[in-house]
Parts: sequence; structure tokens; C-alpha cells
Amino acid sequence: MEQKVYDRKEFLSFLGKASIGLVILPPLLQGCSNDSSSNSTGTLDEEALERLKQLPIKNLEASNVDDLLLTEGLTYSVLIRWGDQINDEDTFGFNNDFTCFIPLDDNDPKDGLLWVNHEYVHSLFVSGFDRNKLDAHQHKTKDQVDTEMYNVGGSIVRIKEEEGVWKVMQNDPLNRRITGKTPMKVNWDNPIMEATTFIGTNSNCSGGITPWKTILTCEENYDSVWGETLYDIDNTASHEPSSAGWEKFYNYPPEHYGWVVEIDPMTGEAQKHIALGRFAHECCTLRELDDKRVVAYTGDDKNSEHLYKFVSSKPGSLKEGTLYVADTENGKWLALDWKHSSVLQKNFKDQTEVLIRAREAAKLLGATELNRPEDIEIDPITGGVFVSLTNNKEKGDFHGSILKIEESNGMYDALTFKASTYKAGGEENGFSCPDNLAFDRSGNLWITSDMSGSAMNQEGLPYMNFKNNSLFVIPRHGSDAGKVIRVASAPKDAEFTGPWFSPDGKSLFLSVQHPGEQTTDLDNPSSHWPFDEDRIPKPAVVTIQGDLIEKMNALNELT
Ligand code: FEO
Ligand code: CA
Ligand code: CA
Ligand code: CA
Repeated sequence: MEQKVYDRKEFLSFLGKASIGLVILPPLLQGCSNDSSSNSTGTLDEEALERLKQLPIKNLEASNVDDLLLTEGLTYSVLIRWGDQINDEDTFGFNNDFTCFIPLDDNDPKDGLLWVNHEYVHSLFVSGFDRNKLDAHQHKTKDQVDTEMYNVGGSIVRIKEEEGVWKVMQNDPLNRRITGKTPMKVNWDNPIMEATTFIGTNSNCSGGITPWKTILTCEENYDSVWGETLYDIDNTASHEPSSAGWEKFYNYPPEHYGWVVEIDPMTGEAQKHIALGRFAHECCTLRELDDKRVVAYTGDDKNSEHLYKFVSSKPGSLKEGTLYVADTENGKWLALDWKHSSVLQKNFKDQTEVLIRAREAAKLLGATELNRPEDIEIDPITGGVFVSLTNNKEKGDFHGSILKIEESNGMYDALTFKASTYKAGGEENGFSCPDNLAFDRSGNLWITSDMSGSAMNQEGLPYMNFKNNSLFVIPRHGSDAGKVIRVASAPKDAEFTGPWFSPDGKSLFLSVQHPGEQTTDLDNPSSHWPFDEDRIPKPAVVTIQGDLIEKMNALNELT
């Protein structure tokens, strides 16, 4: 791939051209008819507008303190944390990641359902299993595994904003948990490992939404709990055990995991989409075409794996269509289509096997190895597809970058594209290891970082100067346009995940995942956030509000 790094001047000229165009709001931000992109300041009076204009977008210094720090103009409150009751039966799961707010009524941006992914557990906190004890792996009990399976998957909670404060409606009939044991339909004609129903979802990292207002939750590191099926040179299969050891108690094949899962938030009904391939799905970002067919972008977050897109052949289908993988060197989408590929026919028995072993199929077709594709967002102004490449330490890429894909003629179903590096991580740009992305109403790009807990703040490692993981924004308009500005710093060992704006653009939902992850002794945890009485760190979803959020969402009008 021709690596093109935009400098700030080029970026400004690129954005300047775009900023006179129409802002195409992300789905659901455009869903609320009480606000529009041309009137995103809503009811703000002249005085408030002037106040926002004067508010600087101040860079927060990097910090290693154990707290959630915010730049001037922002405040936060904890909405829900691990263990909170959502109704009489169920509690909020662990390690929250992707969040998504779906209003129940398009005319009311302050009342709706919040979906939250629960990616994985820290056994010491959740099941009491201490992985640091010798031979402990053999001694994880079935009860402990059951507790862990309960704490992954996702939560649906009804939330409302009252007098500026978001609250969970405990015991709302729509509140529910999806867990590692929830039965799921399979959207495919052939059984997978002889099953037509799968049990549970896990490793739910990021996700997306559909135009028909369901949730896509993506199964990423499923092999950590169910292991993986490996094939030798003679195509003989063997089982590589998981680190969590769930398969000791449940005989669920790894082939039932590593899919994009669709959840209907109103009913809780779940289905796995085989046509989108099986790998460590980070996220799934959908765009609807004029004829109602859909295009789904999804990346495989593993060193030197790939970027994919599914293009449906029928309106609204996540089954009928073709899965492609990116050759970013030549700007081509390569079809994983057994029927029309002799190399795939030679190596796999049918299309189902191609999809189950998508990584191998992609490599046979000549897909480009990427440095761990994470979140994918579509620029609401230019339509460009932005992909976080978090890092690839094996290849000496410690700080990652953000890749930009421009589809030929701006058509999402195009088979050719242009790839370039939009922004490189590193000291010069002030961020490292980009992960989640979100565009707001004004087209500002918000980025979270994910330096690993074991590497952060370690003397002699390249992450030292970045201190704790953070939330950054790249303003689109005004004198700060193109700068990477740190606006929040995470508690110790944590990463921010799942940024999602409320429909009126006045609140940012944000997950605080794995605070205190380096803890080895419950009496002496490495973080105490969110500073509960028990001093045990807890993953939680926070709401961030304040003048700066309002300013950013109205920036195209204020500057
Ligand atoms: Fe779960 Fe790739 O982050
Ligand atoms: Ca991630
Ligand atoms: Ca995102
Ligand atoms: Ca990550």
C-alpha cells in the first residue's frame, strides 16, 4: 500500500472542502426529529452561544493518576457499573465495551434503550479464580465458569435523562441480559458443526447498529474461552485449548463463536450471521444503499489479519450476498466466493467452510496483512471509511495509525478503493494505539486509545510518555482543526471504550473498561475507581456532558 500520511495543512484543506457540504449524520443521531444538523444548538440562546464560542478546547495533560480526569468544560457521572441490579433477576455484566443508545420514540432523545457489550471477565474479581496460583487452571470449578459465562455478552437497560442527569430505569420490562448461555438462532442454511442453534455469545468487543434499529455485537477473542480448531499441513484438525478453560465443562465447538451477532433490543432475540465470516470481529459498521441493500465493514483484530466488507444482494439481508477482503496494496476487494474461485474450491469443501475458516481463505486470495483493525466509522461529511489499526508489535508498529478507505466513486459496494494513512499514532500526534472511533454531529472525530495494561507507564517501553489511556478529539472546524486533543484520561489500567453520542448530541456515553486490570491481590487492587465504599475497581458506563460536548457538536456553526 502506498502509505500517505496527511500533514495538518493537507488535512485542513481536505476538511475545508468538505465542511461546506451536507453533514450526513450517523444513524440514530439523525433519527431524532427534534434536532437537525442545521440546528444542532437546539434551544441555546445568544448568551449560551457566546459562552460556547469563548470556551477553549484545552488539551488535558497526560496523567498516570487513578481517576477519570476531564478537560475544562466536561463533567461525568457513573450511569451503571458491574454488579448493579438491572431488575430483580439480573445484574450488569463485566468489562463494558460497545455502547449504543436507541430512542424508544424518535421525538424524544432522552428516553431509550442502552445496549452495552460485556467483553470478558477478570476472573479474580468475577469468579474468585486466581490465575496466578500454580495449577489453578485445573481447579476452576463449573460454578466459577457459570459465573464467568453470566458476566459476558451484553446488557439492555432503559435509561432516561431527567433534569440533565441520565438514570437507569431499574426493573423496566425491557431490561434484560444476553449472556454466554443465551440460545441464538443461526442465519444460515447449513448447520455449523451439526448445530442450527448456538449457545451464548462472548468476547463482545465493539459493534454497530442496523438501519432497522437492531444491535450488532461482535465476537472478538472467542478463542480465549473456547479455544480454537487448528489445521495442520494435511488439513487434520486439532483443538488448541483456551486460557479460560470453559470448554472443560461445556462441549461447545469454537466454530460456534467468532461471528457478528444481531440482537433485537425490544425482544432480546439473537441471531449469528455466518455470511459475515468468522474471525476476531472487532466491530461491524453498516451502510444502507439507495436500493436498501447493505454494506457491512468489519475488521479482524489480530496481528497481520484483515479488513472485510459484506455486500448484500437483497435489501436488508445479512445472509444473501458476498463477503470481500481488502487488498489495500492494490485497492481491491477480493471475493470469498467458493463458487467462483478455484483456489477456494481446492482448499475448502464448500462456502460454509470458507466462512468458518475465513482467515485462511483471505490469505489464499492474497489479502493484505494489517496491523490489527479495530473500530471502523464512516465520516459523515466525506463518506470516507476510517479504520483504527491499533498496533502490530511483531512488525515494529508500536503506536498504530488510522487508515482511510475511499471507495471508488464514493460507492460503498465498489470493488476498488484508495487506501491511505489518515493519522499515525506516536509522539508527534500525541496518541498511541487507537481503538474506538466516533464522529459527532459536526464531524469531529473522537478516538480512544488502548495501550495494554501491562505496557502502560512502564519505564523503558515506548508507551511511557503517553501515560494512561485517554479519549481524544480531532476538531473539524476552527483554529484547532486537525489537532489531536486529549480530553479525558482513564483510571489506572483502564481503557475507554464504546463512545456513543445521545441523539441530541449533548451527552457522550463512554465505557470505562478494566480499571485495576493488573490487580493480583483483591486486598490491594491497582485501581479503586469508581471509588465505591468497597474500594474494588469496577468497569462502568459513564455519561459525559458539559459545555464542551455542546460546543463540539455545534462547532460547524460556531466557527
Ligand atoms: Fe476488544 Fe480489539 O478490542
Ligand atoms: Ca477494541
Ligand atoms: Ca465506534
Ligand atoms: Ca483494543
